Amino acid sequence: MTRIVSSPALTRRSFLTRSAAFAGALALPTIPATSPARAAATRDVTLTPAPAKAALVGAPHPETAVWAYDGRIPGPEIRASRGERLRITVENRLPDPTTVHWHGLRLPNAMDGVANVTQPPIAPGERFVYEFDALDAGTFWYHPHHASAEQLERGLSGVLVVEEPEPLRVDRDLVWALDDWRLDPEAAIVEDFGNGMDMSHAGRLGNTVTLNGRVPDALAVAPGERLRLRLVNVANARIFALRFEDHAPMVVARDGHPVTPHEPPDGIVLLGPGMRVDLVLDCGGDPGARASVVDVFPREPYRVVDLAYGETPLRDSPLDASLVLPPNPVPEPDVASAERLDVVFEGGMMGGMRGGPGAMRTMMMRGLAWAVNGAADDGGHGLPPFLTVASGRSVVLDLVNDTAWWHPIHLHGHAFRILERDGAPEPHAPLADTALMAPRERMRIAFVAEGAGDWLLHCHVLEHQAGGMSALLRVT
Ligand code: C2O
Ligand code: CU
Repeated sequence: MTRIVSSPALTRRSFLTRSAAFAGALALPTIPATSPARAAATRDVTLTPAPAKAALVGAPHPETAVWAYDGRIPGPEIRASRGERLRITVENRLPDPTTVHWHGLRLPNAMDGVANVTQPPIAPGERFVYEFDALDAGTFWYHPHHASAEQLERGLSGVLVVEEPEPLRVDRDLVWALDDWRLDPEAAIVEDFGNGMDMSHAGRLGNTVTLNGRVPDALAVAPGERLRLRLVNVANARIFALRFEDHAPMVVARDGHPVTPHEPPDGIVLLGPGMRVDLVLDCGGDPGARASVVDVFPREPYRVVDLAYGETPLRDSPLDASLVLPPNPVPEPDVASAERLDVVFEGGMMGGMRGGPGAMRTMMMRGLAWAVNGAADDGGHGLPPFLTVASGRSVVLDLVNDTAWWHPIHLHGHAFRILERDGAPEPHAPLADTALMAPRERMRIAFVAEGAGDWLLHCHVLEHQAGGMSALLRVT
């Protein structure tokens, strides 16, 4: 019953113990974020990706051979305070080269962890030290950015939480890392990574959904309890559309960044791969009640997890406390003076290319299926940038999904505002780093280009990325 509850708590405790051993008292979050002492604080972390075993499905099924950070699925939950500096040593004990990308963080380009763009891959037995300031509070995550379709599917990912100087008042703050696995009857990972079928369709959809690395049963809650749920979709391709039966979750942050608290449209929390949503959930059920969280994305609906109410209420009426998070210091784009560009995504099954059938054929002969503005990236990232822009310049991109498929589009190193979809203003104009586009949809985003270097813009369906759906934004 308490599996889901205990896992993040344990992770956090052991993480704090470990980091305290490395960094001493400085790592303990006892200094207010605004004091000069805090600005100098560095939190030291070591991450060791290596082969491991994980009880994903649970008895009577055998354990699954995985690749994991520090032997855990998901990897250790890294917690920092806003303004703190993180120094993360990655020791590669995998049989293959790897890198670590800090998804959603605004950081120096050299720390972005993209193999062959910002650094050479870390060879087996080698180490690399990532060091950057946690500029923004929020829910972020980390994963390899080398052979991503294989390495994430084998289990490499973890959640990074940057805490606000004044956190929301809640009873519990829980991470839900949602993943999807393609397992055989022995609970072993089917090793058909990046096959052409997955690549040209919806990506690698599995047959087993896990929450924090386990097929979950129920989350024990108390009547009246207020939860902050940090949902993170770490799956290669599965889109979650979560409905909380008999509950009215409030969205308080998108991809880490605060948003005007609101109920999700139609009560459904839509979460494409790479995306995060922070919810505040008031548990208003009766003692002993049970309610399901169901994935209703158009295919077979299924139960993700149950909320199981205990007998003892925590309080009688909902907690009376604000849901508004303090803003992050993200620069606001000036739309009027911005550099403007269309970015057209093409290809895939039942799609086409503006260059005609010949262009599509040439691409598929290279083992690729998708293109961005006519060019397909074979993973070497050797293509010229789709846009070169000076640091500090505002940029408006009109993203055009000219395909028959959904795509969560991720921009590295920036938080962009979603301004419009299909010409209609996006409610709350949220900040995001990954935005889900429906088939044939257009989406207008705006941001201030920051940090000299090459930043990836790609689909976070990792088989689509491997299939060419990736491009470079160059900031000078
Ligand atoms: Cu979550 Cu380019 O990555
Ligand atoms: Cu895609």
